[in-house]
Amino acid sequence: MVEFNLPENSRPKKGQHHPAPVGATRIKRVEIYRWSPDSDELPRIDSFDIDLDQCGPMVLDAILKIKNEYDSSLALRRSCREGVCGSCAMNLNGRNTLVCTQSLADYPDTIKLSPLPHMSVVKDLIVDMKHFFQQYASIQPWLKNTQSAPANAERLQTTEQRAVLDGLYECVLCACCSTSCPSYWWNGEKYLGPAVLLQAYRWLVDSRDDADQERLAQLDDAFKLYRCHTIMNCTDTCPKGLNPAKAIAEIKKRLV
Ligand code: SF4
Ligand code: SF4
Ligand code: FES
Repeated sequence: MVEFNLPENSRPKKGQHHPAPVGATRIKRVEIYRWSPDSDELPRIDSFDIDLDQCGPMVLDAILKIKNEYDSSLALRRSCREGVCGSCAMNLNGRNTLVCTQSLADYPDTIKLSPLPHMSVVKDLIVDMKHFFQQYASIQPWLKNTQSAPANAERLQTTEQRAVLDGLYECVLCACCSTSCPSYWWNGEKYLGPAVLLQAYRWLVDSRDDADQERLAQLDDAFKLYRCHTIMNCTDTCPKGLNPAKAIAEIKKRLV
């Protein structure tokens, strides 16, 4: 079950300001949502002025500089810094994205960072992804085939069969789309949301998988699938340029 753990009247308060080092001339202000639900009564926004001449080019570089040089208690997830692990998803100036893929030069003098919206905050920029990944597991995201694989060989695809997976296999399960979807905000307990439905479609159209009828039957549910109202936030937001709304529409077509 999705639980939002923000306290009432939870508009973040102004927190600590950390000035730039003396002599810095190219300064970017980074405002970051800070909240440790276990110890802080209310969230706050801390601001950090960083010297761009002493910082890498990406927004993730700025956050890591802040953690390394200003406040080691800042909590965030990241791993690959290449846009492939999906772990650095957060809200940047009002838009969900992978901050390792975003150039500081493309943003104004002040950037604002907060955790993915409508998710329980574990600490600062880290949200609880347990329910999201439970939903992902529920679609059984693995190859199902009643026939044994050929001896000492892989299950092969033609170039055309493989191409069907383009635009689907690239999903890194960052949840930027699901957490930008109003239907997922309000019905996330039962609605699978765009990320998981895109993944469900990825297995439905895989030529090596023969469980499509079983998969469709599992998705044919008023809440799991039909809470999508084609608002398109998901597709607008996806930092990998994917189109979850189209995948959802294709699943619906197969169920007609
Ligand atoms: S198209 Fe569907 S899944 Fe995407 S944001 Fe809208 S309601 Fe959510
Ligand atoms: S579809 Fe895009 S936004 Fe959604 S989880 Fe996959 S990569 Fe992230
Ligand atoms: S750190 Fe892996 S996607 Fe950003």
